[in-house]
Amino acid sequence: MSQLKTKHLLGIKNLSSEEIELIFETADNFKDVLNRPIKKVPSLRDVTVANVFFENSTRTRLSFELAEKRLSADVVNFSSASSSVKKGETLLDTVNNILAMKVDMVVMRHSSPGAPHFLSKHIDANIINAGDGTHEHPTQALLDTFSIRERTGDVAGKKVVIVGDILHSRVALSNIFALQKLGAEVMVCGPATLLPKHIAELGVKVELDIRKALEWCDVANVLRIQLERQKMRYFPSLREYSLYYGINKQLLESLDKEIVIMHPGPINRGVELTSDVADSEHAIILDQVENGVAIRMAVLYLLAGVKA
Ligand code: CP
Repeated sequence: MSQLKTKHLLGIKNLSSEEIELIFETADNFKDVLNRPIKKVPSLRDVTVANVFFENSTRTRLSFELAEKRLSADVVNFSSASSSVKKGETLLDTVNNILAMKVDMVVMRHSSPGAPHFLSKHIDANIINAGDGTHEHPTQALLDTFSIRERTGDVAGKKVVIVGDILHSRVALSNIFALQKLGAEVMVCGPATLLPKHIAELGVKVELDIRKALEWCDVANVLRIQLERQKMRYFPSLREYSLYYGINKQLLESLDKEIVIMHPGPINRGVELTSDVADSEHAIILDQVENGVAIRMAVLYLLAGVKA
């Protein structure tokens, strides 16, 4: 396979394992480029990309912008907070106005699940979902699984637990799809109130006890508690969450094996992970961020080659 089947990246659900492998192989090549003294290639010269962010972001937005610039694309950035969205302009009008300026690709983050899918039905540009509400965050799952492959040699056969706020997480759903397509076993672990009721129907194991989950897994991907999405109290206090689900050095040292620790960021230090774990050699959190640029270069490059 040398091309992706569709012109948009809306989620992992509809990607095949072959397409994910193609993205990984392309990212391997771009990672080599990023380690050279001259980190730029002309692959997207004359392509204009708009990064359209209706929600806050540090990693995803910077990572996409860097990836686009490393590929020599022309880049424009839009943030809803300082835009005419505040005057009542609709999503479709906003994006159509951006496209009227001859934009070829749109990278979009939005708080509504399905917003990039809606857009893809109305406009011609390639759309990349940079996170839609609690639904999917496909490039995060690609960089996460790419990082597992890099650290452990292969994703197939690995046991991966996703810990914490599964209910509000787009990272969890995209990771579950990507890990399963690549042949990993997946478990979710967290307080029952933060686990979706029918999550087991996705073919994942469910565990409420963090120690048992860590004893089972090779890799723990620890999610942020998303207080901004929580409309009620799902646990008594952050202190209590940390006591029952926080991962600290003592807990890791009491296991009879070493596991890889991941986090998509931003970290609530002292809640999901203590600093001595987040900053330890077990954690690949900054490797995930580094790999994000190569993965996004690969996605942009491959999608730019699919026009139909
Ligand atoms: N992982 C992630 O999506 O981080 P940002 O919200 O900072 O983009």
